Amino acid sequence: MSSPATAPGAPHGGARPGDAPTGGPPPVEAVRGDAPPVEVRGLIKRYGELTAVAGVDLTVNAGDVYGYLGPNGAGKTTSLRMMLGLIRPTAGTVRLFGRDPLESVGALQGVAGFVEAPAFYPYLGGRRNLELLAAFDGDSAADRIDEALDTVELADRGRDRVGGYSHGMRQRLGIAAALLRRPRLLLLDEPATGLDPGGMRDMRLLIRRLAGEGMTVVLSSHQLAEVEDLCNRVAIVRSGAVVYEGEIAELRRGAGQSYRLQSTDDERALAVCRAQPGIGDVRSQRLDDAGAGWISFTADERSVAELSQALVEAGALIRALAPQTVTLEDLFFSLTEGSAGSADLEDRRSGAEGQPTGGAGKKLARGTGTAR
Ligand SMILES: Nc1ncnc2c1ncn2[C@@H]1O[C@H](COP(=O)(O)OP(=O)(O)OP(=O)(O)O)[C@@H](O)[C@H]1O
Ligand SMILES: [Mg+2]
Repeated sequence: MSSPATAPGAPHGGARPGDAPTGGPPPVEAVRGDAPPVEVRGLIKRYGELTAVAGVDLTVNAGDVYGYLGPNGAGKTTSLRMMLGLIRPTAGTVRLFGRDPLESVGALQGVAGFVEAPAFYPYLGGRRNLELLAAFDGDSAADRIDEALDTVELADRGRDRVGGYSHGMRQRLGIAAALLRRPRLLLLDEPATGLDPGGMRDMRLLIRRLAGEGMTVVLSSHQLAEVEDLCNRVAIVRSGAVVYEGEIAELRRGAGQSYRLQSTDDERALAVCRAQPGIGDVRSQRLDDAGAGWISFTADERSVAELSQALVEAGALIRALAPQTVTLEDLFFSLTEGSAGSADLEDRRSGAEGQPTGGAGKKLARGTGTAR
């Protein structure tokens, strides 16, 4: 599957930003030295009645590995196409290092990536495809072919026809093609989707290595585990709109850690929990007819420590006190499916944001103005 933004006849499907169908004179816009790699504001894309991207705001800072996470049809590819200057937004702005990617081909200096899948001439070898791209890129890109093939571990398959490559090899060749441009910013659309577990692991290692070398990476994904594994920041998108943007760690913290408590005197413990500051969402559960049960609640670590002291003072001794992990999977579904759980989550997150440790994550209006 190649990008609909593909320029006919372009060897790599027009999937690299250097080929944005913009033409025009070299960039005249001065680059702000401090401009972040990506700044997107109020980005909207409509196709007739359908709103594919419904007002996205996000900022990717230098050194970020930024996950653009959402289910099928959430608008990830469409957003990335606009970021790469492959299609024109209906409204809103994209700035890459302070420059509009639609301004000119030169505005994409230092930026590379591909959407959906990189396209190559299938009847030519991987290396030959890179040579053609390097000739197009100029700027000594040809000198980097060996290194790029090495980096993506295709050095020994460079002579083979791309038509005979596996999906994973084609994805890696796509990254090699991007590396010819010596990007400071790499934009990748679901780079590991469709790969087998080994291919996924290799792709993650590669992305981590590139990030370790100082490259800023934006990658879309519908796989939470992948984003959690690779990214420090995330935008979670649903129906074209961002429902959360911020640090993954903050998203976790904001969800509130929940605990389970069993004590020697459940009734007394329940009263203590309800009265104790910093302890929220207190519920009691009876396990069996003998009356054994537990109390669940949410709290931060400090409040839990204070609670344990209060319980002892009240004479309700702790038999068991265990944190319950809220998985990112839970959070993702809460945010993207708008289940009843999401209301709980948002209440809890609002609470957490009010605390002094509340942080960088932004909770945003959900599903605004989307026609799906
Ligand atoms: N060229 C187009 N014309 C009409 N509708 C489009 C076009 N491109 C995308 N859409 C629609 O916009 C919505 C978002 O599509 P998009 O491909 O951006 O989603 P996605 O998040 O990348 O999904 P996936 O995870 O399946 O790749 C979908 O409803 C899609 O059908
Ligand atoms: Mg997509």
